[in-house]
Formats: sequence, C-alpha cells, structure tokens
Amino acid sequence: PQGAVVMGIESSCDETGVGLVADGRLLGECTATSMDEHARFGGIVPEVAARAHLQSMVPAVRTALERAGLEKGDVDAVAVTAGPGLSTALTVGIAAAKAYALALGVPLLGVHHLAGHVAADTLEHGPLPERSVGLVVSGGHTSLLMLGDLARDPIVHLGDTADDAAGEAFDKVARLLGLGYPGGPALSRAAAEGDPGAIRFPRPTVGPYGFSFSGLKSAVARWIDASQGPLPVADIAASFQEAVCDVLTAKAVAACTDHGVDTLVIAGGVAANGRLRELAESRCAERGITVRVPPPRLCTDNGAMIAAVGSMLVEAGAPWAPPGMSADSSAP
Ligand code: KG4
Ligand code: ZN
Repeated sequence: PQGAVVMGIESSCDETGVGLVADGRLLGECTATSMDEHARFGGIVPEVAARAHLQSMVPAVRTALERAGLEKGDVDAVAVTAGPGLSTALTVGIAAAKAYALALGVPLLGVHHLAGHVAADTLEHGPLPERSVGLVVSGGHTSLLMLGDLARDPIVHLGDTADDAAGEAFDKVARLLGLGYPGGPALSRAAAEGDPGAIRFPRPTVGPYGFSFSGLKSAVARWIDASQGPLPVADIAASFQEAVCDVLTAKAVAACTDHGVDTLVIAGGVAANGRLRELAESRCAERGITVRVPPPRLCTDNGAMIAAVGSMLVEAGAPWAPPGMSADSSAP
C-alpha cells in the first residue's frame, strides 16, 4: 500500500473486530463474535462480551494481519472505537489498541462507532459526498444522522429511537413468533412467504425524525394473544417488517429532502434486510436520491469500518488520542 496502513479495532458490543485499511481500501480483516454465548440469555451480557473480547483480541489481530499479508511493523496507526457502546466491552479494545500503539510507536486514534458504520460503505463504494444522511440501524442503534466530513465534522443526530432499536424490535418479535435469536434474519426469511398487507400494525414515530418501536412490538404481542387457531407466522412477520421498513424509509427520505441532501447511507445489521433496501431504493429513486448500503459483511460491527475512519483521520491530520483516553460509552 502507498498510504498509511491503519489498523482498526472494534469491541463496542459482541463482535471483536480487527481490520486493516490503506488508501481507502480494505486489506484484511477478522471478526470474532460472542453472539452464541449470549443467545441463551436472549440478549447481550456485558461481562460475557468483555471476557470474549479479551480471549479473541490478539488472535483476531494476528489473523487480520495474516489475511492482509502484513507484519505488525507495517502498521502506521491504530484506530479504536471510543464509543458509544458497552463500557466494559469498549475498555478491552481500547486497552489493546493503546498497547499496540505504544509497542509499535504509532499514533492512536479514537473513532465514533456510528461514524464507523457509515464509513464501512466507503470501503466498497468510495468517498462520500460533502453532505449525506445516514440511517444506522442495528440491534443497539436506530439513528438518523446528518453527515459531513467524517474526519472533521461532528455527527449530528436528526433523530433516534425513543425506546427499542430497530434490530431489537426484530429480535423481540422473532422471539414472540418462536423464530429464535438473533431474530432479524429468521424473521425476514419468514416474511418472504407472507403478505405485508395482511395486518395493519401501527407505525409510531416521535417528532419529524424520531422512532419508537416498543409500541409496535406490544401491538404484535396483543395481536398474537387475541388470535385463535394456528398462528399466521409469515403474515405477521411480513406485516411487522413492513411497518418497520415503512417508518425507517419515510423518515430517512424526509431527512434528505428537508435538508437538500441527495445521498442516503444505510448501515448497521438491519441494513442487511432486503425489504428495507428495496423500499428505500424505490422511495429514493422517485426523488433523485442515491441509496448506498455497505456489503452485508461490513454492515454488522467490524474492525474495517473503524480503520476506514482512522484512515480519514490520519489524512486529515487529526490529533492523536491522549494517553489517558477512556471509553465514552454514551458518546453522542
Ligand atoms: O450491527 P449488528 O450486527 O449488531 C449490533 O447491534 O451492533 O446488528 C444486529 C442486529 C440484530 O438485531 C439482528 O436481528 C438485525 O441486526 N438483523 C436484521 C437482519 N439481519 C440482521 N434485521 C432485519 N433483517 C435482517 N435481514
Ligand atoms: Zn454497531
């Protein structure tokens, strides 16, 4: 590689991610997940996640370097997720990143997790325009963002969820339907066989760009309780999915048109949902808005997306993180 090689480390939730990026190109990555260990609790247990990061971190760094065909001495900077995320989980990644930066004598850079999700798209589709709107939808986040230069401008939240994240709603409804955890992929498979217009579930929102999914989940639970005979699982799944995708895309499109922005980036685990992409694309096409979605493997938490922002920070000459850098678990 010509430019600086940046190693990105991600540990905000249950994925231990390490990625190597140079010149806006992904050189190699490794992601280890502790998802299976959380499955029996039906959600992420922070202490379990932290211990899994501790076990997976060094092997993940070794594997990512190997896949990139690099030695550790080739790394010119280390970028790490500073937040938001689970405090104990973040701490493991930050401690590892500090140790590598110190040992290698290279800069340490702190990265905002949501900037990382959006930046994942640049690894596949090149630099973003001057302004864009980001919709980050995962098991932990549902944020509508106004984005400028990811290395220089702060992230502006146009709206967020008042309660459950979109992915969390998928997971909870999948559980109600007996589809297992994590439920998003299973629910969307079931939905493919159903009629999205079968049941009219509510589409609760908060203000112009805010979301709320707990009421929708309760409405599905009430519908199931009240129903008699065999449960029409596919129709419930399709109707629920339609309600979520309808509100997400309607607000994202409104954010773009209200702010005169012609690029929408959708990222996070729920961006893997086919109906979400389809609806976003058709609604955006009508208005001349380009939809960008990272490839599925870069939609979920990974180290490459953190390295991508790190690479931009190096380019921009951003200041190094202070040696006392700590986890910013509730970073805005
Ligand atoms: O980004 P991610 O891997 O982890 C974080 O939450 O940080 O996102 C995982 C979430 C889960 O809630 C999962 O159910 C959801 O993304 N998800 C989906 C799909 N694939 C994953 N939701 C809907 N449709 C999908 N195809
Ligand atoms: Zn995430």
